[in-house]
Amino acid sequence: MLICGYHGWHDWYQAANYGADPNSGEFPFAGIEPIGVPNVLDGTVIPFSYGDLAMLRRLLEENRGEVAAIMMEPARSEMPPPGYLQGVRSLADEFDVILIFDEVSSGWRLAVGGVQEAVGVTPDMTVVAKAMSNGYPMGAVVGSREVMSPAARMFISSSYWSDNLGLVASLTTIRELKRRDSETRFAEIGEALRTALNQAFAAAGLPGACLGLHVNPYVRIELADESQRRKVNTLFVQEMARRHIHMLPSIRTTLVHTPQDIEETAQAAYEAFQVIRAGLETGRLDDLLVVDPKREPFRRLVR
Ligand SMILES: Cc1ncc(COP(=O)(O)O)c(C=O)c1O
Repeated sequence: MLICGYHGWHDWYQAANYGADPNSGEFPFAGIEPIGVPNVLDGTVIPFSYGDLAMLRRLLEENRGEVAAIMMEPARSEMPPPGYLQGVRSLADEFDVILIFDEVSSGWRLAVGGVQEAVGVTPDMTVVAKAMSNGYPMGAVVGSREVMSPAARMFISSSYWSDNLGLVASLTTIRELKRRDSETRFAEIGEALRTALNQAFAAAGLPGACLGLHVNPYVRIELADESQRRKVNTLFVQEMARRHIHMLPSIRTTLVHTPQDIEETAQAAYEAFQVIRAGLETGRLDDLLVVDPKREPFRRLVR
């Protein structure tokens, strides 16, 4: 399996860490060893870099006849580079490999039909969850009839397989996303949030910007010294929380975000940015932090 993205904590995926030095900060789980993951899985999962078609081709060539599938997050906070996902699709076809899009995070947001609908590239299989059920536990694996039909001959079971709550939550969520024209609303809300946060950056005199897709904008503070990133991002989260805004530097817009929420967020950000600016200018970031710097548990590969 060739992978690009975060795909959870199952053994098949965690085995990717056998290919990396856990202390090097390399993909995918810096500082985390694959404890308990059978080491016969070593070498069965190979990560590739997002946007690099030449690397994907090289890996497919090097492992010709051995690759069952390419699994990837099609996008997160940025639109895929033009032609990239089409290129991945062509490579999958050329090497007779199944293409799986993990739209667990990206699904339902940019378009109700996911990144694949927005970009016009159809994978053989898709995994969706999260926004599909608006907080209720629910996931779905869907795909072409040809790719899914072996499931009928497999043993698939679960303690909660007959639970209906997630199904009802999903159907209701999908209906409401369409009824409320979520695609347009997300664009409007995300755009307004980005504009307000960019104004907060300018007013606070802190170099940086709110970037990214309207469904997943993110705050990026410009730093002369990249090693300060963890502390600065933690200080941002801390100072926002102090002002009753609980958020990471990366934001998911939702349909309940109001203009007032955006205004309050921008005001809190303005104040937080001033604290950060003072911390950077005086070299006192450590004194300003009352919490431990955020640890990065895994690298996502896809921005
Ligand atoms: C893209 C993506 N795939 C898979 C997962 C894993 O989902 P779960 O923890 O439900 O297995 C996540 C969770 O954050 C995710 O963001």
